[in-house]
Amino acid sequence: MFKRFFCISFLLVLVLTSAKANNKHDILISTKKTSMLIEATPGNPLRFLYYGSILTADQVVEIRSSQNNLQRSAYPVFGTDLIMEPAVQIVHADGNMTLDFYTKGYKSSNVDGGVLTEVTLADRYYPLEMKVFYRTRIAEDIIEQWTEIIHKEKKAVELRRFDSAYMPVRRGDVWISHLHGTWSSENTLTEEPLTHGMKVIKNLDGSRNGRLAQAEVMISLDGKPSEQSGRVIGAALCWSGNFKLRFDTDNNMVHHFFAGMNDESSAYRLEPREVFQTPRVAWTYSTEGVGGVSRNYHRWARNGNLHGGDKTRDVLLNSWEGLTFNITEKGMHEMMSDISSLGGELFVMDDGWFGAKYPRNSSKTSLGDWVVDTRKLPNGIKGLLDEAKRLGIRFGIWVEPEAVNTQSELYEKHPDWALKVPNRDFHFGRGGTQLLLDLTNPKVQEHAFRVVDDLLTANPEIAYIKWDANIEMRNYGSNYLPKYKQSHLYIEYHRGLEKVLKRVRAKYPNVVMQACGGGGGRVNYGVMPYFDEFWVSDNTDALQRIFMQWGASYFYPSMAMAQHVGMQPNFQTGRTLPLKFRFDVAMTGRMGLELIPSEMTEAERVFSAQAIKEYKQIREVVQLGELYRLVSPYSKQGVASLMYVSPEKHKAVFFAYKLEHFYNQTLPRLRMAGLDHTKKYRIKELTLPEGEIPSYLHNEVFSGALLMNEGIELPLKKEYASRVLELVAE
Ligand code: DGJ
Repeated sequence: MFKRFFCISFLLVLVLTSAKANNKHDILISTKKTSMLIEATPGNPLRFLYYGSILTADQVVEIRSSQNNLQRSAYPVFGTDLIMEPAVQIVHADGNMTLDFYTKGYKSSNVDGGVLTEVTLADRYYPLEMKVFYRTRIAEDIIEQWTEIIHKEKKAVELRRFDSAYMPVRRGDVWISHLHGTWSSENTLTEEPLTHGMKVIKNLDGSRNGRLAQAEVMISLDGKPSEQSGRVIGAALCWSGNFKLRFDTDNNMVHHFFAGMNDESSAYRLEPREVFQTPRVAWTYSTEGVGGVSRNYHRWARNGNLHGGDKTRDVLLNSWEGLTFNITEKGMHEMMSDISSLGGELFVMDDGWFGAKYPRNSSKTSLGDWVVDTRKLPNGIKGLLDEAKRLGIRFGIWVEPEAVNTQSELYEKHPDWALKVPNRDFHFGRGGTQLLLDLTNPKVQEHAFRVVDDLLTANPEIAYIKWDANIEMRNYGSNYLPKYKQSHLYIEYHRGLEKVLKRVRAKYPNVVMQACGGGGGRVNYGVMPYFDEFWVSDNTDALQRIFMQWGASYFYPSMAMAQHVGMQPNFQTGRTLPLKFRFDVAMTGRMGLELIPSEMTEAERVFSAQAIKEYKQIREVVQLGELYRLVSPYSKQGVASLMYVSPEKHKAVFFAYKLEHFYNQTLPRLRMAGLDHTKKYRIKELTLPEGEIPSYLHNEVFSGALLMNEGIELPLKKEYASRVLELVAE
């Protein structure tokens, strides 16, 4: 029935033959539990047939027989395909606006952890080709898909649309889950049914793409998204620039789904022989609901798509909310000593430490002048590093390499390095003077690299860099790009950024780096291979964080989510929440502190030290374990609950938070997930403030079956009550 495709050792990419279905050029691209089926018959357009649970060769025949001609082009093109939204549109050198692709050939090869399949499509008339790549990550159940466009026409062609991937999704009760927000309320989850017409999830910020909407989506095929059941497709576009995810639902039985770089104001003039590569779309599929898709993404991130994905993260104190720009040596020493005595492992000096001619005392000046302000730090960074060493902690530092203030020595020297529109006044960002540097310019790329390189060369003991990005692309104009390539700016900016990040990582693989985008602006899989974590939001209010962290966890692993215990009242919202609640919320990710420990009471310091100690005991499970979301804060049941389980299901940590407080309120019984039914788990309650009696569950032993089938009644009496339970198999 089928024969092995080339000399592939895995049984995971097959070309199948069947007299019945005439499908000898079907390519079955499989991972551990999933399959994608395409047909690459030479001379015909590439066709998409199936994406879902893993198929055997016999099932492929069945899929074909059951489809009733619903097979679709794998890349709808403009002008010669069905009349529909195209995935690719290119204007040829002679002005012809259409494409007509046929399959020229295909090949596959083994690559680390998977198989790479490459299909070449060629235009029937013009010397223009598009290669389509499918790269499996077998163990993680991910298929990455992207394209390359190249031509040998006499002059440049214009790329008008260049999606990385397209997928037709059969209509039914199909829902999507995606994230949106704005500054200080990023990563907000929306779940909605797909209806007739166009649904577009996009970003036009230019420099950061994680704030207003995010470049990932889950598609639930069996009605309203469920955490633990139902068939769900995930799509994550690995790109840090403007993106567009589109669902076009017409009367043709399918939701047409497109994912790629945003084409708006981005027509791309492709020169002969230049290769235009689109970013990867990482597909995944699970029959275990949105939770299953999240766990696939988390595993994939930890296994190579997030920098340092195999290492646990330090507990840190960041100076920003406590001190803002008021950096002094004394203040830094005090904070370092405090975090060290609380049991933390790292201190991060945030904004405000730099500037010679212009001291950085506010957001109005100094970006670009990355020299230490010796008025504030007379012994320089070296002095701080010595103190950190003495205290037995690591030291990190804040930078914003992509930006400049007009009041800076850098701007005085290189005004042409800032993005600027000719014949127009500047539109300034933060502080009324901030501008974005032109990362399309190799000299600016060199500058951005040097910001980090100079710091780390002079101070090799720096262990952590917080890379901030506080401005969108407000002035659309590059002094570097030629006039006829100005429309490349949105794309070339991010190619420039990636070049810089690659250089940084090649030289400094072991420095921990945080992607911060003026809050959660840099939450995307385009930059994650270079960063160990991202700042979820500038909003550290624990109550709102529950919602934002819940959203981020749909696509990102907890170890990547920087979650800090904020001040009292909160720096952004002014809300007052119990310290225990704030700790318990921060503990579900990479926990840190963002306050002035010396302003805490003795009781608060004792509690904090204990909570940090207990977090260190459970962090391996939290940061490297599997996430099970139990009760969603968005479901308005008054409670949110989630848990992490170690891969061998030996240990788990359970969290529950009371979100609202009413008299005689009925709260749900909390059913756990992800445990081993047959194992017995001893429960230990963590983060109990001194003098508080643990819940009746403390030190009791329950079977995994009971905890998952019946669940527990958890006392959450007071306003903003929360509980953390550690489970260890006996
Ligand atoms: C924005 C970041 O999100 C904050 O955490 C802080 O680093 C400030 N920038 C500093 O200017």
